[in-house]
Amino acid sequence: MSATNGMTRLVEVADVSAEQAMHLLERARFFRDQSEAGAVFTQPRRSVIQLLFYEDSTRTRTSFEAAARRLGCDVCLVTEQGSSAAKGETLDDTVITLLNTVDPDVVVLRHKDNNSAKHISEQPWNTAAVASAGDGTNEHPTQALLDAMTIHDRFRSGGEDLTGLSIVIVGDIVRSRVARSNAHLLPRLGADVTVVAPAPLLPADIGSWPVKVSEDLDAVIGSADAVMALRIQHERVTGTSGLEGLDYRQQFGLTAARAAQMKPNAIVMHPGPMNRGVEIDDDVADGPRSVIRTQVRNGVWTRMAVLQALIDSRRSRS
Ligand code: NCD
Repeated sequence: MSATNGMTRLVEVADVSAEQAMHLLERARFFRDQSEAGAVFTQPRRSVIQLLFYEDSTRTRTSFEAAARRLGCDVCLVTEQGSSAAKGETLDDTVITLLNTVDPDVVVLRHKDNNSAKHISEQPWNTAAVASAGDGTNEHPTQALLDAMTIHDRFRSGGEDLTGLSIVIVGDIVRSRVARSNAHLLPRLGADVTVVAPAPLLPADIGSWPVKVSEDLDAVIGSADAVMALRIQHERVTGTSGLEGLDYRQQFGLTAARAAQMKPNAIVMHPGPMNRGVEIDDDVADGPRSVIRTQVRNGVWTRMAVLQALIDSRRSRS
C-alpha cells in the first residue's frame, strides 16, 4: 500500500504528512524520468481533470494541464472570464454544474477567496477529489511540493529529507500563499526556514509559523542553501502598502552583489511571475545559481504525482 493511498484532497499542506510528501516527490521523480525517456501514460479507465481558474495564471494552469494530459486524462478548462461566474453564479453552483456535465475525477481550483478549495472538498454534494491551485493569500500546496522537489534534487538523494538545509524566503510574506505553504511544508521535511521581510510585509500570526523571522536579508543570506524571492503582490494591496519611502530592491532585492554573498553551492528560487529589477535582478534570475526554470519543469512532474494519487484514491472509493 502506498503512502498516498486514501489521499482525497490537497487543499493545504496539512493534508500531507511528511511521509506522504516524500512519497509524492519520489513519484514526481518517477514521472520525470519516465517522461524524459519518452514514456506515454494511460489511465485504465476514463479519467477527467477539471481545471477551474478564477485568477490569472500561466505556470500553474499550464503545468496542471500538461500533467493531466501526460497522464492520459481528459481535461476541461473553465476560467472566470467567459463562464457563468462572470454573470454572478456562485462558486458552489458552478462546481455543481461541472460535476454534472464533466463528471471530473479531480477539480483543480484557483480562486481569490481563502479556503475556497477546502470549502468545495467538504460539501456533501461534492463527488470529486479537490486540489488547490492557490486560494487567495492562504495556501499553494503544489507549489510547496515542487519547491521541495527542486531543493531535494539539488542537495539530497533517495529517501533523505531536508534536515540540515537552511532556506530563506524573502518578500511579500503576508500576501503570499507560496510563502505560507513553503513555511509549513519545508520544516516538516526537516529544513530550517527563515522568512525575511520589512515589518509591513509580515503577517500578524507569524509567531505561530514554524520559522525564524528576520528583517535583515544581508544578515542571513550568507548561511542559506536556498533563497526564495517573492513578488510584491500589488494586486492584493488594499489601501497603502506601508512600503512608502522604502527602496525595496536596495534592502530586500536579490541583486548580483547580494547573490555573491551566498554560499558557493547555494541556489536562487522564485515561484514566478518575477518583477525583474525589484525583488530579483536579471543577472541573478538568469545566472548560474538560478533554478527558476527547473522549478517550472518540476511543477509538471509534481502535479502528475498529485493528480495520479487523487485519481487512484477516488477510484478505490467508487
Ligand atoms: C504565485 C501565485 O499565484 O500564488 N505564482 C505561482 O503560482 N507560481 C505567486 C505570485 O503570484 O506572485
